[in-house]
Amino acid sequence: MSGPKLFEPSEVGGLSLANRIVIAPMCQYSAEDGCMTDWHLIHLGQLALSGAALLTIEATAVEPEGRITYADVGLWDDATEAAMARVLESVRRHSDMPIALQLAHAGRKASTDLPWHGGKQLAPDHANGWQTVAPSPLAFAEGENPPAALDRDGLTRVRDAFVAAAHRAARLGIDAVQLHGAHGYLLHQFLSPLSNRRDDEYGGSLENRLRFPLEVFDAVRAAFPADRAVTMRVSGSDWVEGGWDAEQTIAFAQALETRGCAAIHVSGGGLDPRQEIPVGPSYQVPLARAVKQAVSLPVVAVGLITDYEQAEAIVGTGDADLIALARTILYDPRWPWHAAAHLGGRVKAPDQYLRSQPRQYRSLFDVEGSAES
Ligand SMILES: Cc1cc2nc3c(=O)[nH]c(=O)nc-3n(C[C@H](O)[C@H](O)[C@H](O)COP(=O)(O)O)c2cc1C
Repeated sequence: MSGPKLFEPSEVGGLSLANRIVIAPMCQYSAEDGCMTDWHLIHLGQLALSGAALLTIEATAVEPEGRITYADVGLWDDATEAAMARVLESVRRHSDMPIALQLAHAGRKASTDLPWHGGKQLAPDHANGWQTVAPSPLAFAEGENPPAALDRDGLTRVRDAFVAAAHRAARLGIDAVQLHGAHGYLLHQFLSPLSNRRDDEYGGSLENRLRFPLEVFDAVRAAFPADRAVTMRVSGSDWVEGGWDAEQTIAFAQALETRGCAAIHVSGGGLDPRQEIPVGPSYQVPLARAVKQAVSLPVVAVGLITDYEQAEAIVGTGDADLIALARTILYDPRWPWHAAAHLGGRVKAPDQYLRSQPRQYRSLFDVEGSAES
């Protein structure tokens, strides 16, 4: 009898993964001037012991204006790089889980307050705010300060900032870079006809709207070591009539595949406050399935995947190659252990925790020695 598919090894662009559970990127809004702090050490440290296959570091801004909030992590100078190096060094000392990094620019959704302070936009004259940029001067929500449209120089600056951050990520030994093309942030703002109203070659037709995100992808792909993966996270739908949808996502995924993208992570929404999301278990899996049927690169599904059998069914039926967890693994950082125990899989546990293995799951931990003493 074969074991659970969720705990079969997988591969993303040459990166070997122990199973099919990915930790999704999760902003912590706990950085200082873009620098990771002790919070990141604790947060990423505990997730690195979870038994998942890949730890994705939160949306990391490629320039200060690309942060969602003033407390976002960045990777734009030596100080931000050194702060991340310190955290990575500690995490790696105790975990061999591969680490991916999401590179991001928030575009018109930048310059907001912390979510637990309401998350509202902060005006450029606020101490913690700044002027935002976007493809077109259209505010995200009514009453907000509109972004400045990026001109040629601005596009080059942003693209080069992604490249510079990719060089830093390579130096930090990051195993894979994920570009944030989802949730209504800058690259998604170029993709969607709702936020991109440009009349130059970066707006209008689908081909034109794909142009800047593909240019950024190509530039990052060229900058990051060829033997390490560059992936893309997308929103499979804006969930608004006339917006970005599954069909356009497939065209984007196919274009990325021909350019050497190692995986596509299919999320959804975030571009327009009018969105009507059919929230429920696996609500975004149909979008992942649609992309999976159209490309041959690995596809990651995400969104309200909470149950072990549900996760096993997603990868078992081939709707996606991997599943990603965000809130689920914050709530239960040992979710992969519990899933393995439930489904009959095996996970890696640190030596210090081997004695926690319950008697009824004798072969849960993937170790040489005995768990009992
Ligand atoms: C605290 C928190 C922070 C998040 N930060 C990011 C982020 O940095 N980048 C990103 O692409 N998505 C981010 N997301 C979205 C998650 O990665 C994920 O797509 C979403 O929460 C749905 O998955 P879930 O149902 O397992 O939470 C965040 C979600 C949460 C809950």
